[in-house]
Amino acid sequence: MTPTLRAAILGTGAVAHLHAEALADIAGVNVIASADPSDERVRDFNARHGIPAGYGTLEELLAEEAVDVVHICTPPAGHAQQTAAAFDAGAHVIAEKPPALSLAEVDAMQAAAAAADRQLAVVFQQRTGTAATHIRNLLQSGELGRPLTAVCHTHWYRGAEYFDVPWRGTWESEGGGTTLSHGIHQIDLLSYLLGEWSSASGQLFRLDRDVETEDTSCGVVVFERGTVASVMTTVLAPRESSLIRIDTEHATIELEHLYGHHHASWKLTPARHVTSERVASWALPEVEVPSGHDALLSEVYSSLFAGGEVPPVAADPARAIEIVAALYASAGRGRPVTRTELAEPDFRGSMRVPVRDLRPGQ
Ligand SMILES: NC(=O)c1ccc[n+]([C@@H]2O[C@H](COP(=O)([O-])OP(=O)(O)OC[C@H]3O[C@@H](n4cnc5c(N)ncnc54)[C@H](O)[C@@H]3O)[C@@H](O)[C@H]2O)c1
Repeated sequence: MTPTLRAAILGTGAVAHLHAEALADIAGVNVIASADPSDERVRDFNARHGIPAGYGTLEELLAEEAVDVVHICTPPAGHAQQTAAAFDAGAHVIAEKPPALSLAEVDAMQAAAAAADRQLAVVFQQRTGTAATHIRNLLQSGELGRPLTAVCHTHWYRGAEYFDVPWRGTWESEGGGTTLSHGIHQIDLLSYLLGEWSSASGQLFRLDRDVETEDTSCGVVVFERGTVASVMTTVLAPRESSLIRIDTEHATIELEHLYGHHHASWKLTPARHVTSERVASWALPEVEVPSGHDALLSEVYSSLFAGGEVPPVAADPARAIEIVAALYASAGRGRPVTRTELAEPDFRGSMRVPVRDLRPGQ
């Protein structure tokens, strides 16, 4: 008999719908409840996705329902505390990005998972899909040679009204600006592909939006294998694009997409010295799975059904936020910050730093 896992969704805003839609396609998952302080949103959400029970808070939900997995789809300021409550109730946690507001909070979430012997999965869905897995394998096996340079650009557009939502645009409730909230997707994918990083230097700018955090950032991240990456993030780009380019000894890898990728989004160009037989062996698999919440949640639930650990597509919740923390810390200190330094308590709390305001008249 197929086992069943009872899931609950905390927060019923924009991203929660992607969770509910993905879960509807996974055999053996029953979404039994949702919670959100907005009664109206819970009612509409539950009606749309056929979820039987709705609550105002996680505490009420956990007191009434036996839950195996809690999906955290709330603003990031609540993630650490909500994760702890879910683990206390014996549930696994699947938390939306960014996992928390600081490295100290991510530490606490990982410690709570270990203490409760439960799994903590994080949603960075750009890691998923057959193309990302294939390219990562080619890079990690050494088949493409050393990765030398990389570009990781997030050119997105968020109008002024996007920041009307009260939790956006402040250090206290969003934890950072566009680097933490948007650029982190490509930063996460880049580091998923390239492995461990060693240092980062960054600069933060407020060019147009009326926010306390940055609306644009620029940085350089150096990876342990010696790859140098240019990392730019902005929410001011009329033609939106998410771009990753990696030049290795034997090939150029390019990915251009917006919020998700499929095989056609990737391009692999061999160096002149590579034989056609070798190039043929780099072909993407015939069966294609695009990136997205569907792919991520399906892999996470396969592991949970098997009683296993979180799969690589949803593991390592700290990796991308470490790079963002280093970019922020570097912008505040005016010098590169190394990964080793991040172990010091000074780097693990709030990531708030001054932002250069280049808006006219400021
Ligand atoms: N992976 C992605 O592509 C993706 C896309 C969008 C958002 N996100 C992330 O998802 C999270 C939520 O973003 P969103 O765009 O859905 O925000 P949103 O503002 O649309 O929705 C958040 C919901 O959480 C509810 N909420 C707030 N505090 C709560 C609490 N204590 N308990 C229960 N519910 C609470 C709010 O009432 C709201 O309905 C953020 O961390 C965001 O960065 C991820």
